[in-house]
Amino acid sequence: MNRTYTTDIPKHENQQVTLMGWVDARRDHGKLLFIDLRDRTGLAQVVFFAGQKELYQQADTLRPEWVIKITGTVQKRPEAMKNPNLATGEWELGASSLTIFNKSETPPFDLTGDGYDIGEETRMKYRYLDLRRGRLQKNMRLRHKIAMFIREYLTVRDFVEITTPILSKTTPEGARDFLVPSRLHKGSVYALPQSPQQYKQLLMIAGFERYFQFPHCFRDEDSRADRAFGEFTQLDIEMSFVEQEDILGLTEALFTELVETLFPHKRIKEKPWPRLSHKEATQTYGTDKPDLRDNKNNPDELAFAWIVDFPLFTEQSEKDFFHGSGNAKFAPSHHMFTAPHPDDTALLDTNPQKVRGLQHDMVLNGFEVGGGSIRIHDPVVQEKVFSLIGFSEEQKKQFHHMLTAFTYGVPPHGGIAPGFDRFLYVLLGEPNLREVMAFPKTGDGRDLMMEAPSSATEEQLNELGIQIKKHV
Ligand code: AMO
Repeated sequence: MNRTYTTDIPKHENQQVTLMGWVDARRDHGKLLFIDLRDRTGLAQVVFFAGQKELYQQADTLRPEWVIKITGTVQKRPEAMKNPNLATGEWELGASSLTIFNKSETPPFDLTGDGYDIGEETRMKYRYLDLRRGRLQKNMRLRHKIAMFIREYLTVRDFVEITTPILSKTTPEGARDFLVPSRLHKGSVYALPQSPQQYKQLLMIAGFERYFQFPHCFRDEDSRADRAFGEFTQLDIEMSFVEQEDILGLTEALFTELVETLFPHKRIKEKPWPRLSHKEATQTYGTDKPDLRDNKNNPDELAFAWIVDFPLFTEQSEKDFFHGSGNAKFAPSHHMFTAPHPDDTALLDTNPQKVRGLQHDMVLNGFEVGGGSIRIHDPVVQEKVFSLIGFSEEQKKQFHHMLTAFTYGVPPHGGIAPGFDRFLYVLLGEPNLREVMAFPKTGDGRDLMMEAPSSATEEQLNELGIQIKKHV
């Protein structure tokens, strides 16, 4: 189709062009009818004259969100009609023909504003309309741009993007798993990965040395402003033959360059990023994710920091037992594959509370935007950690594949996973993670647009060998 984008009309003054898009707004001035036409690039004003009777009558039927094609001549607007707030505000299209592709119902809410004041239930039910608003269009396009920057950055540094399975086995990261019953192996379940942690370590054993992907991670936990329900995206990175310093260095350089290239108006408060031990952070700031900004009201200030030297284990009481660990006294601070500090390995047998882990958290403006570690690559140490977190022999068997893989030549390795949605949420200063995701669930875990979760048919359940206990 021969089509001009709205933002390109200034290049076509006095020429005939065809625009396609949605009616953003209409203004009726008696003898003149104005339409703001919206496409993916922006807005352009179109004018219909009452003198062109048939065309005017057709244009008069137009309503917001109708999808149309307009051909006309690009002309300079009269001085008094210029709109300095619009990129195309000095021009307009004098319409000569109109095609209506599709009409639209009146949208259930206003699409022109930022949408913050509209009830979430309605926004989520009609998310495809909500996504038409400028703010969300911008967020989604920025998300893509940032992902492309990261892809490029890592690719030129010899990282390989590898997709790992969604139907998998439980990857304990401390949350509850989503389970998917198997039809072919009745009574057995797949688990959706809480992160690709085990796969990425196995990819290091497979010899890739430098891996990344933007994985979907699934965790059945309650949502918060900075925690999406159900699923979210990480930037998952793993490297071989590295020390903690290499991982911090790469990540810091990547995010610093990203911000400075794509968001030059933002200021990183301190470079290199400050590093605090876990003890220092909690003693000085009362939290392991301190907000180090000078001015917390400045949306363009970014205070990155690294938190290191976490205790390898956290002591737990009965109420917060690490999922799947029985009733052990210890839970992993990060996860069960994190290596102890080499100076503290002996303390695993004598004083586990004192063991520091080679864990690193990436903090931004008071949020934990990433976490990672150097991994255990010695099967004996791995077994010891499994025992300390209370794994029974049966539970250890679940990680048999890891322990077996460790016997076939495992390089020292480690990595990190910045939360991709969470980083965007903090960077863009949005009030909720959902504002940077295309189709998030509501806070209570529903997809109101698709109406999920939904019930399964008797036939589906039978096929899976499942009986539902409605009232548990
Ligand atoms: P961790 O569990 O710390 O580590 O997660 C890493 C980062 O993922 C983000 N994140 C979330 N973002 C949105 N919603 C959630 N529910 C959510 N949960 C976590 C956070 C967090 O810092 N496999 C390890 C990483 C590694 O060791 O390399 C892992 O997943 O920004």
